[in-house]
Parts: sequence; structure tokens; C-alpha cells
Amino acid sequence: MYKVNEPLELTLLYHLNSPPPEAYAQPVPAGEMRYLADTPVLELPPVPRDNPLASLLSKRLSVRAFQNVQMSQTVLAQLLDSACGINGLRQVQGYTYEGRNAPSAGGLYPLEMFVSIQEVTGLAAGLYHYEPRGHTLQWVNESTPHDFITPLLDQDFITHANALFILTGVFMRSLYKYGTRGYRFVLFEAGHQAENICLMAVELGLGSLCLGGFHDSSINRLLGIDGQRHATLYCIAVGSEKV
Ligand SMILES: Cc1cc2nc3c(=O)[nH]c(=O)nc-3n(C[C@H](O)[C@H](O)[C@H](O)COP(=O)(O)O)c2cc1C
Repeated sequence: MYKVNEPLELTLLYHLNSPPPEAYAQPVPAGEMRYLADTPVLELPPVPRDNPLASLLSKRLSVRAFQNVQMSQTVLAQLLDSACGINGLRQVQGYTYEGRNAPSAGGLYPLEMFVSIQEVTGLAAGLYHYEPRGHTLQWVNESTPHDFITPLLDQDFITHANALFILTGVFMRSLYKYGTRGYRFVLFEAGHQAENICLMAVELGLGSLCLGGFHDSSINRLLGIDGQRHATLYCIAVGSEKV
């Protein structure tokens, strides 16, 4: 196994060397597409869809055209809370801890949540940081979703999205305990939170788009984070779908 003095070095070796590809030219070889291609299959029973979660899951899809419709602060709060909100205290074996809407390896919560907004009732357009403890927003700067289009590799689908959620990771919160494996956990957790936002968006009659294609240092600069100890991981745009 590769040995390094500090887990962060190995994490950054990968993180800083995984920019978006310049072209998507290679088709996936057929052999990579189906696992156990020659093994007989066993048919499963049909899946009942008449339950709230199955219904949400079946309605989630990527929306790439949003329209300018006001979003209420309550809706913004629900979306933020779905990702990383605290939903009460839990007691396990005499130990009390915060219950959150997404799991976190070791309860270490390495992610931070930023949100760039426009057309949210009563809030100035710009970039905010969400603090789950206290359920509060803090003003960061004037960057609106429009300012993220170039860093998002010119993906202008988000032009009229009300909110662009930006999940960032403070790697050492996980790496202190888990070493280099903690890097995986930080990424897994971003996936958990992103899916929660997508499903809450469906529940609220909104559309969402997950965005992994972006120029890291441009987004980190907009957020005012160093891109090494604290770096952007994933973005999710939410708004009213243009029909
Ligand atoms: C990790 C990840 C990164 C993605 N990045 C982008 C992106 O940068 N731009 C985009 O338009 N869609 C992006 N998508 C959305 C996918 O293209 C989309 O989920 C996929 O085509 C399946 O369609 P569906 O979401 O409608 O089911 C991303 C999805 C995931 C899971």
C-alpha cells in the first residue's frame, strides 16, 4: 500500500488530480456494462409503487431548464434541512447525540453547505453558508447562480434556478479518524445529502440537477475556501421546472 506521512497528502493527490476530462470521447466497452452477463437470471416480484418514497424516487429526474418563479424562505429552509438538518436528539446506550437527516461516518460531519440564491422571498440574492446547528444562514458574498455558470463549465441550465447548493468537504474531520479511507466517506456523504435535496425538491413540486462537472478552483475561489483542506465536492441546482 502507498504510504504517506499524512492522509491528507494522499487524499489531495487524487482530489487535485481529478479535473473534469477535456473530452468524453471513449465509449464504455461492452464488457464493462453488464456484470455476470452469462449467468441465468431470477425474476423478482413487481415493485409496489404506491408508497410515498417510491413515488418520490420515480418522479426524480434531472431538470435542465428552470423558470423565474419566487421561492419562499420556507421552501429554501426545507431543502437545506433535508440535506444536513438536525432533526432532534437520539439516545443510544445512554449516549445522547444529534439526529441528522443524512448519515455521517463516525458522526464527524465533514461537509459544509453553501447555497447561492436568487428570487427567494425576502432574501438578498447572493451566496450564503448554512449552519445546521441553529438552522441559520450567514451571508458570504454576492455570488448568484449566474456567477457559477462559467465555473460549471458553461452549463447554463442553472440560469434561472432559485438555489445552487454547493457541498464542500473539510477533509481532516474524517481523515483524523479514518485516515485515507475517510476521503471515500466524505464523498459518500455528499451523495447522501445531494439525494436528499433531489427528493425534497420532488416533494415540493420543484426540479433539481446534480452537477459534478465544474472547475474546482473557480468554485473554491467564489466560496472563499482553499480547495485543499476545504474543497468543493458537488453542486445541486433547484428551482421551478420550465415546461
Ligand atoms: C455525480 C453526478 C454528476 C453529474 N454531473 C452533471 C453535470 O455536470 N451536468 C449535467 O447536466 N448533469 C449531471 N449529472 C446528471 C446526470 O447526467 C443524470 O443524472 C443522468 O443522465 C441520469 O438522468 P436522470 O437524473 O434524469 O435520471 C450528474 C449526475 C451525477 C450523479
